[in-house]
Amino acid sequence: MQRVCEPELMDDPQQVQAYAQADFSDGDRRTLVLIESLLAGSPALPQAPLFIDLGCGPGNITLPLAASHPLAELVGVDGAGSMLSVAAQRAAAAGLTVCWQQASLQDLQRGDLPELLGRADLIVSNSLLHHLHQPGLLWSLTRVLAAPGCRVLHRDLRRPATLMEARQLQERHLPDGPQLLVRDFLASLQAAFEVSEVEAQLTAADLNGLNVRAEDDRYLVVSGLVD
Ligand SMILES: C[S@@+](CC[C@H](N)C(=O)[O-])C[C@H]1O[C@@H](n2cnc3c(N)ncnc32)[C@H](O)[C@@H]1O
Repeated sequence: MQRVCEPELMDDPQQVQAYAQADFSDGDRRTLVLIESLLAGSPALPQAPLFIDLGCGPGNITLPLAASHPLAELVGVDGAGSMLSVAAQRAAAAGLTVCWQQASLQDLQRGDLPELLGRADLIVSNSLLHHLHQPGLLWSLTRVLAAPGCRVLHRDLRRPATLMEARQLQERHLPDGPQLLVRDFLASLQAAFEVSEVEAQLTAADLNGLNVRAEDDRYLVVSGLVD
């Protein structure tokens, strides 16, 4: 199946509301487990490490990370202001401190937020890569933001071989969700990358310390260290 891009930012209030109310807890937990196992298998973090969650949305990953790493400085970056409003409300309700930054990856690449450059000890994203029209942006930005030895974990959907397979995945995993979510899920599967495409992206970015692998029937995981 050919890749079909979807809009990058999720800034439509109805879309944000449907996303924020949906239960992604199984997938979120899996991303968090992968992050913790990457951290456990990597050299010790500095005492007050900087963690950056790119395309953080309503904070599904940022907030649990802030809770489990109270000494870390957490930065959640998203281009969509309405997503960050939800994230900020949730952080306040949970008494967690996160620095929410409304900026696109393109803004960061242009040098906005210079205080982050070369400082990240951990860069994560969950369900971001498939949004990017130019995926190379994520990899060049990883280089720009990373401190030496930065740990990286990105988890995202991967593109099925056919539209029929995409529909089967939707029927299996989101049989009767709200119409907007079903539409977004199918669009996201079509916009996602195959493992071989991400391999080529990592090679082109010379990120030899990162590996990509398929997970489950619909995900891919990129993880490793920036050398
Ligand atoms: C599917 S949501 C995932 C949100 C969150 N990471 C989670 O796990 O629930 C993707 C998010 O990436 C953001 N996004 C997409 N493209 C972006 C870009 N170029 N710059 C910044 N944020 C972007 C969208 O606005 C949206 O909030």
